[in-house]
Amino acid sequence: MALLEVKNAGITFGGLKAVSGFNMEIREGELVGLIGPNGAGKTTSFNLLTGVYTPSEGDIIFNGKRLNGLAPYQVTRSGISRTFQNIRLFGELTVLDNVKVAYHSLAKNSILSSILRLPRHFSEEKIMEEKSLEFLEIFGLDQYKDELAKNLPYGQQRRLEIARALAAGPKLLLLDEPAAGMNPQETHDLMELIAFIRKQFGLTILLIEHDMQLVMGICERIYVLDHGQLIAEGTPEAIRSNPKVIEAYLGEEVASDHA
Ligand SMILES: Nc1ncnc2c1ncn2[C@@H]1O[C@H](COP(=O)(O)OP(=O)(O)OP(=O)(O)O)[C@@H](O)[C@H]1O
Ligand SMILES: [Mg+2]
Repeated sequence: MALLEVKNAGITFGGLKAVSGFNMEIREGELVGLIGPNGAGKTTSFNLLTGVYTPSEGDIIFNGKRLNGLAPYQVTRSGISRTFQNIRLFGELTVLDNVKVAYHSLAKNSILSSILRLPRHFSEEKIMEEKSLEFLEIFGLDQYKDELAKNLPYGQQRRLEIARALAAGPKLLLLDEPAAGMNPQETHDLMELIAFIRKQFGLTILLIEHDMQLVMGICERIYVLDHGQLIAEGTPEAIRSNPKVIEAYLGEEVASDHA
């Protein structure tokens, strides 16, 4: 059985079909890429998967459960976490607190017990802090734990976003252009990190990325969107030589030459 099954999903904004007839199946443990030119509908697909938008057509089944209509926090609790194309950290909080907040959103501890400062609150708080520190270590961010998130270099902010997403304990991790704005060395390190956390936490990963070399290098299968439609699905080798894909990307290069 697939861990994630997207059946004929789509959404329309005004008259624009941002995504339509989208089908996707991801098995547990896979690392899958989602690519396509600018405006193809990649981020919108993530928004459909995570409850930001309710699909106007089709179904999203995760772990045997239908997700349509769930709010984003309910999707997170079902086991899907994501990062954002535009980094969304709490800039005025410390690096450590950014990860702790992600834990808090899941904690069994009630708001009441934290207001009353019951003993259980303190012990859970301590456990959260220790776990958050463990994540920061994995991501090489522990030395920055007391720094405000907004003061981190850009590449480190991207890593912190992933650490936060992981703190929610997902089965499926969605990464929206995690290497955007990174230099080649940072990108290379990030790829190794993604491979590591996948093994370490038994994750299934769906990755949006513009850097072709990167996608082709680490993904086992790739889906390609263009103008809101799935135009290809297959291994990196098959995708690389697929005429429809080449055409979609040639269009983009020509367009950006004139930009
Ligand atoms: N909330 C919205 N309201 C109206 N149109 C939207 C909305 N969200 C996305 N769109 C449109 O849907 C299309 C797909 O956008 P999307 O952001 O998913 O593309 P993308 O593949 O992620 O592109 P990029 O590579 O630039 O990030 C675009 O035409 C975009 O303008
Ligand atoms: Mg996008």
